[in-house]
Amino acid sequence: MSNTYSYSDNKIIQKANLLRQMKLYPFLRPIEATEGATVTVGGKRQVMIGSNNYLGLTHHPEVIEATIKAVMQYGTGCTGSRFLNGNLSIHEELEEKLARYIGHEAAILFSTGMQSNLGALPALSGPKDCLIFDNENHASLVDATRLAMGATFKYKHNDMEGLEEQLQQASGRFKNITIVADGVFSMTGTIVNLPEVTKLARKYSAAIYIDDAHGLGVLGHQGRGTLNHFELTDQVDFNMGTFSKSFASIGGFVSGPKEVMDYIRHAARSFMFSASMPPSAVATVLKCLDVVQRDEEIHTKLWSNVKFMQQGYKDLGFYTYNSQTPIIPIFIGDDIKAMQVTAFLQENGIFCTPVIPPAVPKGEALIRTSYMPIHTKDDLTYVLEIFAKAKKTFQIPTRQ
Ligand SMILES: Cc1ncc(COP(=O)(O)O)c(C=O)c1O
Repeated sequence: MSNTYSYSDNKIIQKANLLRQMKLYPFLRPIEATEGATVTVGGKRQVMIGSNNYLGLTHHPEVIEATIKAVMQYGTGCTGSRFLNGNLSIHEELEEKLARYIGHEAAILFSTGMQSNLGALPALSGPKDCLIFDNENHASLVDATRLAMGATFKYKHNDMEGLEEQLQQASGRFKNITIVADGVFSMTGTIVNLPEVTKLARKYSAAIYIDDAHGLGVLGHQGRGTLNHFELTDQVDFNMGTFSKSFASIGGFVSGPKEVMDYIRHAARSFMFSASMPPSAVATVLKCLDVVQRDEEIHTKLWSNVKFMQQGYKDLGFYTYNSQTPIIPIFIGDDIKAMQVTAFLQENGIFCTPVIPPAVPKGEALIRTSYMPIHTKDDLTYVLEIFAKAKKTFQIPTRQ
């Protein structure tokens, strides 16, 4: 065996090992069972406030039934790319239904959200094009810029003056200019300033690509997302979404003008050279789409729980970044403290994860929490009780 690979002096591995010794390593916890709002870890039931299961649909009886039925009808996998042998009629049905739901002409499915960005953005950004990029965009968008032949220029998070400066500089130098931003930023729950982005896009003849992984299913009428939330769907060229969050499965899509979607179908390498979404996942998403468009209770309960927790944390004196979404980040500050608090919460039956540098700036570690309609008020009251204890025990500041 080769001796070439050694990581004992790698800084990340050293830090991980140190945290393991201190019994503070918060990642890769094996979950033994899950009921959606609760999970079992190490034989103990925990309230789950660390997922992206924003609508709690992973355990919805109709969704489970549809998923099983698809396995019986189509088998477990497609064993090939859509392009060749892996294109089922239900893939096309889902694309049509998603396009209608979002309010765009057409949609194209990918096998994950990450693959959607890795495929679509490089297809849209050729050598004569450029991307103008919020500097807190998701890692999958960052990686997509590395695959794109076009240039990328960044502006400070949600800073519209910074965006305009970049647009001014790019104007006239590129064939296509595309502004790229998350709809809901995944760590802090901030919503993109879409009204201003669309104004600037019009002024500089730029296109807009929104990654709405965390807005889809949550914001807007029946969960149509950030574009619908601002009633600006017709002003946004491309909308990307993932099924790994509200839609309880795995897979992703991009929607936009029909001709461009057809081009992406023939140019996106992660679409052409990777196997298609399994039938079970397609059926899950089809059923989720059906449920969110007819069951109003889901959103009523979701927002009732979110408001309850926003107020609860505020009353306890936590800083929650003025989040307006089911993602409620809790400011901690120091990263070791964030891991100590996470371990404390875990010992007390609460599952959530810390967000530490480099995912956030140094000194701004936080605990990312999120809420769903299937949490009971008892679960949530319990979570607030334990957070109150954690605040005292670890002297969590309101803001540094
Ligand atoms: C903003 C954003 N975009 C894209 C993705 C990738 O989605 P997927 O998990 O479907 O690959 C994520 C997942 O965390 C995300 O948060």
